Amino acid sequence: MALSIRPINPKRDDFVAEVTGLDIAAGVSKAVAEEIEDAINRYAVLVFPEQRVNDDQQYVFSTHFGPMETATGDIAAQGDRRLSMDINDISNLDKNGQVLQRDDRRRLFGLGNMLWHTDSSFKATPAKFSLLSARTIPGEGGNTEFADMRAAWDDLDPKTQADLMPLVAEHSQLYSRGLLGFDQFTDEERAKWAPVPQRMVRRHPGSGRLSVFLASHAGTIQGWPIPEARMFIRDLTEHATQREYTYAHRWRQYDLVMWDNRAVMHRARRYDHTQPRDMHRTTVADCAPTLEQPL
Ligand code: OGA
Ligand code: MN
Repeated sequence: MALSIRPINPKRDDFVAEVTGLDIAAGVSKAVAEEIEDAINRYAVLVFPEQRVNDDQQYVFSTHFGPMETATGDIAAQGDRRLSMDINDISNLDKNGQVLQRDDRRRLFGLGNMLWHTDSSFKATPAKFSLLSARTIPGEGGNTEFADMRAAWDDLDPKTQADLMPLVAEHSQLYSRGLLGFDQFTDEERAKWAPVPQRMVRRHPGSGRLSVFLASHAGTIQGWPIPEARMFIRDLTEHATQREYTYAHRWRQYDLVMWDNRAVMHRARRYDHTQPRDMHRTTVADCAPTLEQPL
């Protein structure tokens, strides 16, 4: 099986590629993992069709790309978890496999994934790569969209680029969920998700490209009045998520999609919440907090 990597996005040839000719469940060599990392450095999102992996196989594949995160961003209480702490449960299911009730706290918290975001920017060291495996998908809807934050940076006017360069935003899941009116956090959750600083501009170590680093988790900018910071974050998000910068992935069962959180934002789209949607995510941690990475 020869590895094949080809761009699939009609809007841009350096954003989103499909990767075939490998069997993730069977395991991949170090050389293949390196080719994949080169490809994601260039394309930022990779789609691997027809990968029937279980959690262990997905996890082992993910470990080729760096240290792994644990699912401390999930809201399910320890005894309520359906999956191990190595897997982010991006489903609408409870631990018995039943679809969550409409007003279930875990479901309402999970709706935050429909806001544009990068994964784990609310952790001191955010996520590098996310790998999302579609185990069960609804009949329609539930796409995942990606926004190319490198292109968004490239097209900003020089004045805004200069303004942004030194800025540091504060990220927290309390902010992103707050946008939806979800504020029923326990004291423990408030402490666990206290805001963390993240640079607003990043340089990608694999491509050398700059990007705007945003997420719905960003609730203020250090040294700025909050309303002005939120307005600027909102303006930038509107700019970065214009259609010309985005790609919509329409899921097929057993797709595995891998994205680079240093270069893209993403969001889930609506679907019929009474139908099961079962997605399992493994997450590779970045090497350091963004402020400790060279710009
Ligand atoms: C995620 C995520 C979007 C989706 O897995 O991190 O935001 O469409 N998923 O489920
Ligand atoms: Mn996400």
